[in-house]
Amino acid sequence: MKVAQFSRIGFIMAAAGSAVGLGNIWKFPYMTGEYGGGAFVLVYLVTIALIGFSVMVAEMLIGALGRRDTVGSFERLAPPDKKGWKYAGFMGFNGLIIMTFYSVVIGWIFYYLFEILSGLPTSTDTAKATFDNLVGNEAGIQIFWHTVATIIVTYIVYRGIKGGIEKINLTLMPALMLILFGLLIYAMNLDGFSKAFSFMFEPKWDKLNSEAIVRAIGHSFFTLSLGMGAIMTYAASLPKHASITKTAFIVTFMDTLIALVAGLVIYTFLFHEGAPAAQGPGLVFISLPVVLSNFGTLGTALALLFFLALSFAGLTSAVSLVEPVVQYLIDRFDTTRFKAVLIAGIGYYLVGIGALLSYTKAWGGFFSIAGKPLFDILEYSTDSILLPLGGLLIAIFVGYVLPKERVAAVLKKEMGERVFTVWYFSVRYIAPTALVFMMLNLTGILKIG
Ligand code: TRP
Repeated sequence: MKVAQFSRIGFIMAAAGSAVGLGNIWKFPYMTGEYGGGAFVLVYLVTIALIGFSVMVAEMLIGALGRRDTVGSFERLAPPDKKGWKYAGFMGFNGLIIMTFYSVVIGWIFYYLFEILSGLPTSTDTAKATFDNLVGNEAGIQIFWHTVATIIVTYIVYRGIKGGIEKINLTLMPALMLILFGLLIYAMNLDGFSKAFSFMFEPKWDKLNSEAIVRAIGHSFFTLSLGMGAIMTYAASLPKHASITKTAFIVTFMDTLIALVAGLVIYTFLFHEGAPAAQGPGLVFISLPVVLSNFGTLGTALALLFFLALSFAGLTSAVSLVEPVVQYLIDRFDTTRFKAVLIAGIGYYLVGIGALLSYTKAWGGFFSIAGKPLFDILEYSTDSILLPLGGLLIAIFVGYVLPKERVAAVLKKEMGERVFTVWYFSVRYIAPTALVFMMLNLTGILKIG
């Protein structure tokens, strides 16, 4: 089945739109706070440069050479005696697992966009009460916004690569960057900025433990959208003469830059008001609104812009989580896009309701396994197990299963001989080692988490 092609800029924006998401603006800042700042950021940056970028090139390569859905691309590229590799393509389904909770969080953001209009909370207690009440008691409201998010996301995917995904990314990504860089310029003129800067870039090594390292590796995969076939699926529609290396570099760079900017903006506001750094997942939902309330009407505007940017980031990522399964269903079962979207959408939507109910007081116990809410289980299993596993399979496939000549034929002329050697070494040795190390450490992490 022939898939539609992106334009070159459309592909860059779509891949960047996939990468830049809640992971950058919601998760990265609070993880940085939890793991003490600078040292965590440094590990994250090194992982991105050393492993993330290499695996992104590898994942794009599979899509660009395979030109099918994820299962089809693996199957087509695997040598005749290794066709079992097609099962690696089922990593595309992990996108729906991520979507179960991702859509719920986008729903929270929508809810907040309206909440902000009726005024910002002026104390942490009220802000926390608002958030806790939403998550703990208001199942109906959450289901409503989760439904709105699902309808928007599935509609965009239904419109297809060209008319839906490319279009939305070409609009929302520039808007998102404009807002964030605007906020950065504003933040740079506040007192808190230099403090935020040193918090994020001066490593405090005593805060760094193996948990922080493992989480940094896991997050670098999540934030770059690696290890589940999202980038692979988009790359199947890569315009023929676009450079994989260059595109992967731009996407990695943009994703990293936006995470750092988001962190700087949030911590500047926080430190400006003397708030502490470690706030956990409630950081942007609880602390930020309170801090911004001190800025009066301007604060409301800033909060509105911030949550708008957050919702754009979430939506452009969400479509990339749904598209792989849709592509698979269309390719394999010859269904219409409409039916494929419906099946994928209903699937994650229903589990998503279970995820949000698992945080409520009324239903929490029912939707928990061994005392862990379904929401957390879904998040941990993707972030810490399935994505690294997917990344490992991608690295092994490109590093060992695909003939080297085939890989070199595309990438050597893009990278040059020397960079290619380094990249190939990373894909064969560094990335698999780091990923295996990470997964071996999981048992420890799960006990802590
Ligand atoms: N990268 C996105 C974020 O940072 C999330 C995401 C979109 C993703 N597509 C993905 C994560 C594919 C893993 C795999 O929020």
